[in-house]
Amino acid sequence: MLELQGKRVVLGITGGVAAYKAAGLARLLGKAGAAVDVVMTEAGARFVAPLTFQALTGRPVFVSLWDAPQESVAGGMAHIDLTRDAAAVLVAPATANFIAKVAHGFADDLLSTLCLARDCPLLVAPAMNRQMWEHPATARNVAQLRADGVAVLGPASGEQACGEVGAGRMLEPFEILDALIAFFQPKILAGKRVLLTAGPTFEALDPVRGLTNSSSGKMGFALARACAEVGAGVTAVCGPVSLPTPAGVTRIDVQSALEMRDAVLAQMPQTDIFISVAAVADFRPAAPAAHKIKKGTKTLTLELLANPDILAEVAARADAPFCVGFAAESQNLAEYAEGKRRAKKLPLVVGNLVKDGLGGDANAVTLFDAAGAHPVPPADKLTVARTIVRHIAEMVRR
Ligand code: C5P
Repeated sequence: MLELQGKRVVLGITGGVAAYKAAGLARLLGKAGAAVDVVMTEAGARFVAPLTFQALTGRPVFVSLWDAPQESVAGGMAHIDLTRDAAAVLVAPATANFIAKVAHGFADDLLSTLCLARDCPLLVAPAMNRQMWEHPATARNVAQLRADGVAVLGPASGEQACGEVGAGRMLEPFEILDALIAFFQPKILAGKRVLLTAGPTFEALDPVRGLTNSSSGKMGFALARACAEVGAGVTAVCGPVSLPTPAGVTRIDVQSALEMRDAVLAQMPQTDIFISVAAVADFRPAAPAAHKIKKGTKTLTLELLANPDILAEVAARADAPFCVGFAAESQNLAEYAEGKRRAKKLPLVVGNLVKDGLGGDANAVTLFDAAGAHPVPPADKLTVARTIVRHIAEMVRR
């Protein structure tokens, strides 16, 4: 997916150990379709040679204000011309010193001058020792940056190059790429609180076995990411899946349908939109065994009890949020999905044929609402999720 196609990004690199990770970031930005112009501080260029970035981006790298006018820059003034028509300036790593300079409007090298002269958004990914990050001076400067409309990405916590452990690690290149892609999404669900369920449920038979299904959670997680990208506050109640949690999403892990129901109902007071993606088991063992069931009998009879329908219960509440259901069918999609929409009294159902979606990375869905059926072009799950979210936002806005 070339999500940054047609966008030019100025990648600023300042003097921190994490500069080596910026090489990976430059490559990811290019792979996502962006044209990448790298600007390094003198200190940044001591950590990684400009030639590395020139080779990775296929474009000249800029370091000094005092270089001869670059033919590659239209007006010959890099500090002005580089940001004109750029989609964003992204500084990763951003040192404490660089953040201090930008907070106070200093312009004493090419990168800080360019940040002051820019006419596009600025994003910074801080990278520094935890004491430097926690210092009141840095906290003041970061607050000033935020107040000035600068997006601050991270930092993460963990082991640092200096051997200490704490907040100040630069986000990983793929996290910075995802944050940049999210930054460009129109904030059509700003202020809305979305609750999702995702993945399968696991209904215990005994301490080691259970009833479950092959839902991967990928569609639910793609929707969680797509909602967070457009400004929603997102909580995902997840059955057993091992996928990484998308940035900005609060995750609640559960096992069984009953646990999922409890977690969902607890979130009701702070939910505007409920998207029920989970493949909830329809039945659970009536009496799970306390100890492992032993072999040796010719037959084993399981008594199953029907699970509550979480979505139907939520949709029937007097304070029901805007509810979106999923219908995974093996045949007669339109009939079953529209039937489910009416039976559970849902404004919107996302229907798909099991062969098109379950477990895979792509999906082909049709949206069913009161206006009829709206087929969504087959695509990867994140693209499909973004289309579903646009449809939800339009319905919620009406
Ligand atoms: O009726 P069916 O199970 O096919 O409906 C699917 C929709 O209902 C999905 O959105 C699913 O998440 C939700 N569901 C639920 N609780 C159940 C069964 C299904 O929330 N016990």
